[in-house]
Amino acid sequence: MEILHVSAECYPVAKAGGLGDVVGALPKYQNQLGHIAKVVMPMYRTKFLYENDFDITHKGSFAMGHYWFNYTIIKEKTNKLGFDLFLVDINGLLDREAVYGYSDDVERFTAFQIAVVDWLSKWNHQPEIVHVHDHHTGLIPFMMKHCYAYQHLSVIPTVLTIHNAQYQGWMGWDKSNYIPDWNTWEWGKLDWEKNINPLASAVKCASKVTTVSQSYLEEMRHNANGLENLFEYERGKCIGILNGIDDSVWDPAVDTYIESNFSVENVHEGKLASKKVLCDLYNLDIDKPLFVFIGRLVHEKAADLLPQAIYDSVYHMQGTMSFLILGSGEPGVEWELENMKNQLVGYYNSKIGYNEKLSHQMYAGADFLLMPSRVEPCGLNQMYAMRYGTIPIVRNTGGLRDTVIDVGEPGGYGIVFNDATVWDITYSVHRALELYKKPKRINKIRTTIMKIDNSWENSADRYINLYNSLQ
Ligand code: ADP
Ligand code: GLC
Repeated sequence: MEILHVSAECYPVAKAGGLGDVVGALPKYQNQLGHIAKVVMPMYRTKFLYENDFDITHKGSFAMGHYWFNYTIIKEKTNKLGFDLFLVDINGLLDREAVYGYSDDVERFTAFQIAVVDWLSKWNHQPEIVHVHDHHTGLIPFMMKHCYAYQHLSVIPTVLTIHNAQYQGWMGWDKSNYIPDWNTWEWGKLDWEKNINPLASAVKCASKVTTVSQSYLEEMRHNANGLENLFEYERGKCIGILNGIDDSVWDPAVDTYIESNFSVENVHEGKLASKKVLCDLYNLDIDKPLFVFIGRLVHEKAADLLPQAIYDSVYHMQGTMSFLILGSGEPGVEWELENMKNQLVGYYNSKIGYNEKLSHQMYAGADFLLMPSRVEPCGLNQMYAMRYGTIPIVRNTGGLRDTVIDVGEPGGYGIVFNDATVWDITYSVHRALELYKKPKRINKIRTTIMKIDNSWENSADRYINLYNSLQ
């Protein structure tokens, strides 16, 4: 089967979070299963673009509102990612360094989607499934059905994967003229509460909808940033498929980002050597258990609770642990996390920003990974941490609930808590300290979690079954 994934991110081309990891891995595994999966994404000005060779595949143009845009589709020459990679170049809109965060993101991603659909409509080689990811590609199922120039694409089934329903890509109806000449009788398929809502539109128009864990699918019917009723109404077409991890990239035995490679056989020595690197770099005590947080510093991740939880843990538990934080996001949280460095010297440190190498070093060198998320559709960090023998401390929500079992349960290997509160986090840190006092238990848990198979193999197959049901 031939599948075209459309996404705003794809590792290693451009990544802001887990979406990039998933779109960089899933197609590779689908190809390994004997299918042809391809990826199309915007041509941002990232390192990958300059370090690789491309062929021009297609040139075209389209109108968006009152403006006319030319676009070019290029294809990476060597298939080095394990799938065909197509990039869409639109001068003036996509030729930027970062993926998101510009005031014209609505225009940027709407134009990207129009270019993809226009290219598809002219391509002599059409896929059997168009698989779109999150709201940045959410208008595509609508355009393939209801834009007059593209309606012949309506025979191709579409699948939407929701990685995060908090972000929906809302735009005012005054921008409806951006969408190429469409059947206005169908306006209801774009609308949600008097705005054009690309995510809601994709839920209404796609042939099937998936979310990245079963628990998140159930939660969305009660908590989906205003779309709860839609998910309740459309539940017949929605299924949960848990993400996997790319275990060729995330493997402590061969990871080139870490200084001392290790596997289950020498996990104790390997982790200690990795911890030493971190403790030397960040002035922390190697003899104390090291707790880390890696991620976007936003409300969903409960990053705002970290400063108080860290203070309380250090003060109430007499500094018997260290903390290291890597992340970027809300300026207020960044500021607090940065400032705390001066007050908790030797117990706490942080690196504000995005740093792929350091994230790998932290998964390898930490004893515990904190994920107090308020919302976590799947979460990859806890799975990466486990592959590197780092014990996850997670809130009982979404994909965290589906991937971590509390040590108090039979066969448990992590620490799970219920509420996104400072108290629950500090209590979990306390539980982790108690566990850390039992080195044999820690070593057993480390080897158990390193052996858990969270690879893409199972989930990649579940997507194929889903596509088959649409043929
Ligand atoms: P989300 O997609 O919601 O941010 P996930 O757990 O699915 O959360 O994936 C986050 C991914 O982004 C992981 O690969 C994690 O290591 C990475 N990541 C997040 N923040 C940073 C950062 N500041 N530096 C490096 N990697 C980061
Ligand atoms: C989103 C979610 C995260 C998930 C990732 C990949 O960014 O917030 O939980 O793991 O997408 O699906």
